[in-house]
Amino acid sequence: MRGHLGVLSRQLSTIKAGRLARNGWICHSCRTGQVRRKLFSSSAALRDAKEKPYYVTTPIFYVNASPHVGHLYSMLIADVLKRWQVLKGRPAILSTGTDEHGMKVQRAAELQDVPPKALCDANAETFKDLARKANISNDHFIRTTDPEHRDAVEYFWTGLRDSGYIYETKHEGWYCVSDETYYPDNAVEKRVSPVTGKTFMASVETGNAVEWTEERNYHFRLTAFRDRLLKFYAESPGWIVPSNRFAEVVSWVQNNLEDLSISRPVSRLDWGIPVPDDSSQTIYVWVDALINYITVAGYPVWPPGDEHTKGWPADVHIVGKDIVRFHSVYWPALLMALDLPLPKRILSHGHWLMSRQKMSKSVGNVVNPFFAIDRWGVDTMRYFLIYNGAMAHDSDYSNEFIVDRYKKGLQRGLGNLLNRITRPKNWKVAEIVSSMSSKQSEPLPEVVDIHRGELERLVGKVEGHMEELNPSGALREIMKLVFETNRFIQEASPWAKTDEDDAAAVEQIVFYAAESLRLVGILLQPFIPEKANEFLDRLGVSHDRRTIQYAVLHADDSYGTPMITLGEGAHSSLFPPIPVED
Ligand code: ME8
Ligand code: MG
Repeated sequence: MRGHLGVLSRQLSTIKAGRLARNGWICHSCRTGQVRRKLFSSSAALRDAKEKPYYVTTPIFYVNASPHVGHLYSMLIADVLKRWQVLKGRPAILSTGTDEHGMKVQRAAELQDVPPKALCDANAETFKDLARKANISNDHFIRTTDPEHRDAVEYFWTGLRDSGYIYETKHEGWYCVSDETYYPDNAVEKRVSPVTGKTFMASVETGNAVEWTEERNYHFRLTAFRDRLLKFYAESPGWIVPSNRFAEVVSWVQNNLEDLSISRPVSRLDWGIPVPDDSSQTIYVWVDALINYITVAGYPVWPPGDEHTKGWPADVHIVGKDIVRFHSVYWPALLMALDLPLPKRILSHGHWLMSRQKMSKSVGNVVNPFFAIDRWGVDTMRYFLIYNGAMAHDSDYSNEFIVDRYKKGLQRGLGNLLNRITRPKNWKVAEIVSSMSSKQSEPLPEVVDIHRGELERLVGKVEGHMEELNPSGALREIMKLVFETNRFIQEASPWAKTDEDDAAAVEQIVFYAAESLRLVGILLQPFIPEKANEFLDRLGVSHDRRTIQYAVLHADDSYGTPMITLGEGAHSSLFPPIPVED
């Protein structure tokens, strides 16, 4: 930590020295303001010199309990978006991590009678394990207890204080520890606990218990940003996906905006980052947490012209619908206060439900993602969650649905198609591919031509869905082509053509089916990386021909010789039968 601060302060003093020499004496607060502006100003020439990587984030998860399938889902969406960019040849960064401070974690540690840091260390490891196990290609795993992050938060807070948007006042209100937020009077209600029969006050939105608090703390003048926020939303169509969430946010800012309490007395909360220059207060966990996204991108050591090289501004923050407000109201306002660039888009996804209720640590109706991956395999889980999950609505989780998707999509769709083309002894894919490379302009029979047309449009359609941040739509589009190819092959029945005269027809049919496999295999890599890899190995597509440039008809004229033994029978298939079913 000291080393990091050392670099920072050396950098600051170099900049300060330059300014002071030019400008003579400047009062301390003005000086910090100028230094700050200088540090974040950018020179166009330098900016263009290095490309900004695509930067995608997941929420950082509370470590009060173990991860569940909902957390895995956010990581997966982020992973698919990142891998899609990589497939397109763009450098991309994925960050995930853990949110370790605040009342929620402090209380969980008290309940378990362990020091908070020990609880954090153990549970952060579990979230890391999950990312590994689910094949998430994260470049960062940030923990808010990391020293770099503490530096970034302190620096950010000092900037806010200097900007004049912080004031101290008495605060009264309903605090919800589970949601780590205050709720206004009209957002809480009396409820009866089904377990104890006792009444308690709860948030109307989440049903979680709230408690009345009265304390002195620091506030952020959020209301000062109402007009700027509304103007920004109006000028940024599609900033929040899906649009129904965007409309809710705009309406909330128009009608409900209040200043935000951004610290807690240390007597209530000591598990957090102390307010710089006032150790009687601890920084509010959400302010602390949101800053993670810029800590990862190197903030505040952003040499002019190089601010973007570690990714900021983020291309997309992926969040569950429960935390949209924090990301699309508080976060942009905090960044505006410091004149920092805003994230480019916010993608909000729906919740996974068990028996129509949100899967949640507090309710306890959670699916352990480690068990699920062990049972179904990592790519089956990835396939199911992406296929069935949605942005605009919630989705039901059940083993029955997983089995159904596996059988219909992976086994009978993808696996079957691969076997039908690569296993028959009547033809050799490699020979057909090579022979067809000189016959690209030959006319095709109608049934083949229609299929070729579908195939030609596939990449554009998939790209369209990905641009709209709709991985489920993209996956469904790919699978539609798989189902369509199976129908095409069935109808064209190359295996039934034994006549010498039919040789040309067999060649055309098998070739366009093989091209379908090749394109599908390339496009599936971001979704089911391991299986797509094996799929392309079985089809014999060389490793350097698996990027998006090759997802074009006729782009590869030398594939078709399997790189692994294909074997025979269902059990040697890419998607073998599931041993035991519920
Ligand atoms: O809110 N279905 O952390 P958290 C789908 N630390 N996604 C779900 C889900 C479900 N049933 N349950 C949780 C926090 N998620 C803060 C975030 S970010 C700066 C700080 C996912 O552990 C979803 O992404 O409560 C949701 O927003 C997130 O986990 C909340 O995780
Ligand atoms: Mg939560």
